[in-house]
Amino acid sequence: MAKSTLVVTRRLYNDVYAQLAAAFDVIADNQAADQPWDADTMCRHIAQADYLLCSVADKIDASVIAAATRLKLIATGAVGVNNIDAASCRARGIRLTNTPDVLTETTADFGFALMMATARRIPESERYARAGQWNGWAFDQFAGRDLHHATLGIIGMGRIGSAIARRAQGFSMNVLYHNRTESRDATGAQWVSREQLLKASDFVMVVVPYNQETHHLIDASALALMKPSAVLINIARGGVVDDQALIAALRQKTIAAAGLDVFENEPRFDPTFLAFENVVITPHIASSSSATRRAMMQLAVDNLMAHVQGLPLKTPVF
Ligand code: NAP
Ligand code: GLV
Repeated sequence: MAKSTLVVTRRLYNDVYAQLAAAFDVIADNQAADQPWDADTMCRHIAQADYLLCSVADKIDASVIAAATRLKLIATGAVGVNNIDAASCRARGIRLTNTPDVLTETTADFGFALMMATARRIPESERYARAGQWNGWAFDQFAGRDLHHATLGIIGMGRIGSAIARRAQGFSMNVLYHNRTESRDATGAQWVSREQLLKASDFVMVVVPYNQETHHLIDASALALMKPSAVLINIARGGVVDDQALIAALRQKTIAAAGLDVFENEPRFDPTFLAFENVVITPHIASSSSATRRAMMQLAVDNLMAHVQGLPLKTPVF
């Protein structure tokens, strides 16, 4: 029987790729360069595809779906699916799978690490030591903010948010959270309104999906509610925070610091952020441990294989 054609947009681990090569005719001319395709290349490739394995950095918009005349399923190697035009997929009967759960703990580790790095000024002090500026000890040298016994406000208490709340218990933090629906949380964290959370928190951690409703959820008015001593951590998506409003808030010292793994227009984020010593910048790596990136790839592969074999999808979005 003829194999189905699978388009793979980005480099995979060799052994994961080998599983696909055994089961599909694979179009994957990006394994060496591993750079995003331009729109023309994406459309040219997808026109031949029965299946697509893509990443969080690929824009699968209506024009790509329109070119995908044979496409049956998109398996994205991410939990967030905001880069894929779901309405166009649904209209064409194209299935979509993502990679929830396998990245939850690793992403929560990173959210916590970014919060600690920002609070305790680790990148800033490391830059100082590396630059040979460390000439002696001082009482107020790189004095940071304590996490222990501070109030953490989590906006988006889902899989990752809850895993962060569990970590916060070990630091004796007081955890507030906000979801759209008021609920009880197993960690004992307290649901509050978004406004209450922003006003009361020493650390605000954003971990909601990106969509029309969450676009600029953290805007100028939200930032204005935060304490001047508060720290904002965004591990959700670029666009959930209004980056220009955040830059203004940092300039005006409306808030104290920010740890940002995601940005509007990434990877070409606003270079103004670079001038702030109190902003910790990471390049969208919250799920990037070797084991977890492997598990994400494998889950995407398992979804593709399941569809080919007529089995239920492992983790369908729809
Ligand atoms: P999840 O389990 O679906 O949790 C999302 C939470 O957000 C839910 O509890 C949801 O509760 C809440 N929420 C949704 N819309 C909201 C709104 N408008 N206001 C307040 N809360 C809202 O998803 P997850 O697995 O934790 O992942 C969350 C997101 O993290 C992903 O979609 C992705 O964008 C991001 N992420 C980023 C990285 C990275 O590398 N930086 C890695 C993994 C994930 P309600 O429905 O009750 O409101
Ligand atoms: C990463 O950003 C993801 O959504 O998995």
